[in-house]
Amino acid sequence: MDQRIQFGVLRAVVYVSSSLREKIKQVLKILVVTLIAYTSPLAAGSPLGLPPITIPQNNAQSPKKIALGRLLFHDVRFSANGTVSCASCHQQAKAFTDGLPVAQGINRISGPRNTPTVVNAAFYTSFFLDGRRNSLETQALDPLVNDIEHGLENHQEIIKIIRGDKTYGELFKDVFCIDRNKITIDHVVKSIASYERTLLAGDSPFDRFFFAGDKGALSKSAARGLNIFRRKGNCANCHEITWNQALFTDNRFYNLGIGFTRVNEKLANFVKSLKSIPADYLGTTKTFFDENHRSELGRFMVTGVIRDIGKFRTPTLRNIERTAPYMHDGSIKNLNEVVEYYNRGGDKNRFLDPAIFPLHLTDQEKIDLVEFLKALTSPEYTQSP
Ligand code: HEC
Ligand code: HEC
Repeated sequence: MDQRIQFGVLRAVVYVSSSLREKIKQVLKILVVTLIAYTSPLAAGSPLGLPPITIPQNNAQSPKKIALGRLLFHDVRFSANGTVSCASCHQQAKAFTDGLPVAQGINRISGPRNTPTVVNAAFYTSFFLDGRRNSLETQALDPLVNDIEHGLENHQEIIKIIRGDKTYGELFKDVFCIDRNKITIDHVVKSIASYERTLLAGDSPFDRFFFAGDKGALSKSAARGLNIFRRKGNCANCHEITWNQALFTDNRFYNLGIGFTRVNEKLANFVKSLKSIPADYLGTTKTFFDENHRSELGRFMVTGVIRDIGKFRTPTLRNIERTAPYMHDGSIKNLNEVVEYYNRGGDKNRFLDPAIFPLHLTDQEKIDLVEFLKALTSPEYTQSP
C-alpha cells in the first residue's frame, strides 16, 4: 500500500479510537456516578459503612408499624410466666445481647446457645446461628413457642392477649386496617421485623477512618490492627469488608472448632452411622448426642450434609466490645482470648475450616488487632464499661 494512504488510515484509526476513548470515558463516568448514587450508604440513608437495606415487598416500613413492633418486642405478657420478652435477652444496653454465656429464658432455664445481637440482623441472608430461618418475620415465630425462651404453647395465646387489649386493637387497626378479631400472628411478626430493621449500626471510628477518610478516627494501634485484620490475620476472609461497606460477615457457614471437644469423641462412629442411613440424619443425631451436644453440630442439623458438621454463620463484629462473652456457646470471655484462639489455629477437628490456621502474631500485633475490634462500636452503643 502507498505510504501516504497507510499514514491516512493510521490517522483515521487514531482519530476514531481517541473519540471512542472519550465516549468510553464519558459512559464510564456516568456509570460510576450512577453506581455510587445507588450503592452509597450515604445516599440510601443507612449509617456510614452499611449498604442500603432491603425491605421485603410484602412488609413495607411505616413509622406506626415500627412503633408497634417495638411495643411487641418489649411485651412480657407473651410468655408462659409473664416475665420474658424479646428484650429480656436482646437488651439495648448490651447492644441487644444479654451478657450471658448462654441465653436464659422463662424460669431461668438456660438454652444451649449464646444470644446474638439483633443489630444489623436485617442484613443477614439467613437467621439463627445455623441459618435455619430465612427471614426476620419467620425467625420471630420461634422464640415465642420455644420451651425455654417465651415458653408459650402456641401462637394463639398471643393473639388472645392482643385481641383482648384495647390499645393493641387500635394500633393494629391503624397499621394494618383490620378489625381486632382479624389480627393474626403474621401481623405480629411483621411488626416485630419492621422494628428490627431499624436497629442499624454503622458510623464507628473504623467507618470514619475507612469510608470517610478521617485519618484521625483510629489510633495508630487500631489502624495497624485493621491491616492485620485484612491481611496477616485473614479475618476479613469471612468477616467481610468491601470498598464501600462492611457488614463483617459473608453470610456463610464455617467450622472453627468452637465447642467441638464436646462431640469429637463420638464423631467418627456418628459419621459412619450417618452413611448407612442418610435419610434419617436427625434420628441418628439423637442416638449419639443429647440436646445440648446436638447444638454443636450447627449447620448440619439444618442440611444433613456431613461437611456442614460444626459450621456456624459468620457473625457481624460491629459493637463487638459490648457483646461479650463470645461464640455460639459463649465459651470465650473476652477479645484477647478470641485473638489467642485464632492465633493458635483454633481447636483441631476433622471438619476444621482450612481458613483457620496458626497466625504467628507478635504480642504487639495481638494488641493492635484487639484495638481494631474495639473501634467497631457505633456511637449509639458507646458507653463506658
Ligand atoms: C431466652 C432468650 C431469648 C429470647 C426471649 C429471645 N431470643 Fe432471640 N435469640 C436468642 C438466642 C440464644 C438466639 C440464637 C439461637 C440459635 O442460633 O439457635 C437468638 C436469635 C435471634 C435472632 C437471629 C440473630 C442471628 O444472628 O441470626 C433474632 C433476629 C432474634 N433472636 C430476635 C428475637 C425476637 C424477635 C424475640 C422475641 C419474639 C427473641 N429473639 C426472643 C435468645 C433469645
Ligand atoms: C473461616 C472464617 C473466619 C475467619 C477466617 C475468622 N472468623 Fe471470626 N468467626 C467466624 C465464625 C463462623 C464465627 C462464629 C463461630 C462460633 O460461634 O462458633 C466467628 C466468631 C468471631 C467472633 C465472636 C463473635 C461473637 O459475636 O461471638 C470474633 C470476635 C471474631 N470471630 C473475630 C475474628 C478475628 C479477629 C479473626 C482474624 C484473626 C477472625 N474472626 C477470623 C468466621 C471466621
